[in-house]
Amino acid sequence: MTTIASVDAWEVLDSRGHPTVRVAVETAGGRGVFTVPAGASTGTHEAVERRDGGDRYGSLGVREAVRNVREDLGPLVEGRDVADQQGIDGALVEFDGTETLSNVGGNAVLGVSGAVAHAAADTRDEPLFESLAPDTPGRLPLPMVNIISGGLHAEGGVEIQDFLVVPTGAETFPGALEAVWAVRRAVRDRVAADRLPLVADEGGFALPFDSVEAAFDLLVAGIRDAGFEPAPDEMAIAVDVAASHFHDPDTGEYVLETLDRRLAPDEMVEQVVEWVDTYPVVSVEDPLAEDDWAGWEQLADRIADRVQLLGDDLLVTDAERVRRAADAGAASAVLVKPNQAGTLTRATDVLETATERGLGTVVSARSGETCDVTIADLAVAYDAGQIKIGSLARSERLAKYNRLLELDHRYDPGLARPAALPPFAD
Ligand code: PGA
Ligand code: ZN
Repeated sequence: MTTIASVDAWEVLDSRGHPTVRVAVETAGGRGVFTVPAGASTGTHEAVERRDGGDRYGSLGVREAVRNVREDLGPLVEGRDVADQQGIDGALVEFDGTETLSNVGGNAVLGVSGAVAHAAADTRDEPLFESLAPDTPGRLPLPMVNIISGGLHAEGGVEIQDFLVVPTGAETFPGALEAVWAVRRAVRDRVAADRLPLVADEGGFALPFDSVEAAFDLLVAGIRDAGFEPAPDEMAIAVDVAASHFHDPDTGEYVLETLDRRLAPDEMVEQVVEWVDTYPVVSVEDPLAEDDWAGWEQLADRIADRVQLLGDDLLVTDAERVRRAADAGAASAVLVKPNQAGTLTRATDVLETATERGLGTVVSARSGETCDVTIADLAVAYDAGQIKIGSLARSERLAKYNRLLELDHRYDPGLARPAALPPFAD
């Protein structure tokens, strides 16, 4: 047994320039560092980040979370077996004492949890994906890659948060990235004829559109320009509607302000069905609000046989909500974001629970990231099948794609054919 010798933490800045927590864990034979990501379109039910308030960094400082790691969580785990991830994560959650980790902060807890995993891998002298794997590591995940951004990630864009492509026809991970790169370049070339596009938080193009359909049309045109067929089994489309963020809880309506439309829940369901019928969409994330379980079930009845219905804000990487979705048939896949859960153990529980219950799994970055690559290894370790990192731009995104390219090059585990996506269902 190798015990944890020391835990240190300090404040660093993420890809939006916002403060976040970095933690280092040391043993006699290794060291691990992890940096906590942060969302912008956060779900109500996710683990709570501790932010300082006050004047520093526009109230976003994380000195209190850092202090909680140094003074409380560090001493709590020092002397424990670094390999006992589950026991350590359990102790961290118990110390906090709240379900959402609001006492010491989900960012403090996840910082320690992630750094322990890296320290364990380093101590064992194993790559992280191997050290994390419950048994044999899995395959490389099929990426869904952001091309056009809107919502809270791109001011002035349409309300839909991400328009992504899924290179379902790719045979290898490098081939998948190369195909997506060509689509991204083709979309850029179309836009650059008028203006140089800005990139949003996740590296997708931030563009104004007169309608949601205009964004879909641009993506379809880019796919064709790049020499691909816009089709579910060749170059498909995924969307993250992130509907909670334009849902008015008082009226129940979905308010598409830039398009000057207010949709009743029934109309929103019809609207999503229409997009799915019109475009080669294989995955729809958060098409309805985070607590509209009835709406999700209604939509699932209409489209879940041909499209992956992916829960992000609905499921918030929570095993209990995943079980509820499986029982109700409300979603067919779960987005897995470790910082929604608050510990690595909770996130891996969700990966296992979802797989047991027949749901697809998509490991995901946040809109606020660093060059930390943990999620790349996590996706391979648990054979998640799919990953969502953002666009092929900005170093905090590319660090993760590049980690997957390294795993492909060094270990060649093959590219997943996720059963949750329609072209592979047969
Ligand atoms: P977030 O966005 O990190 O801002 O929550 C990512 C997503 O909604 O999938
Ligand atoms: Zn989302």
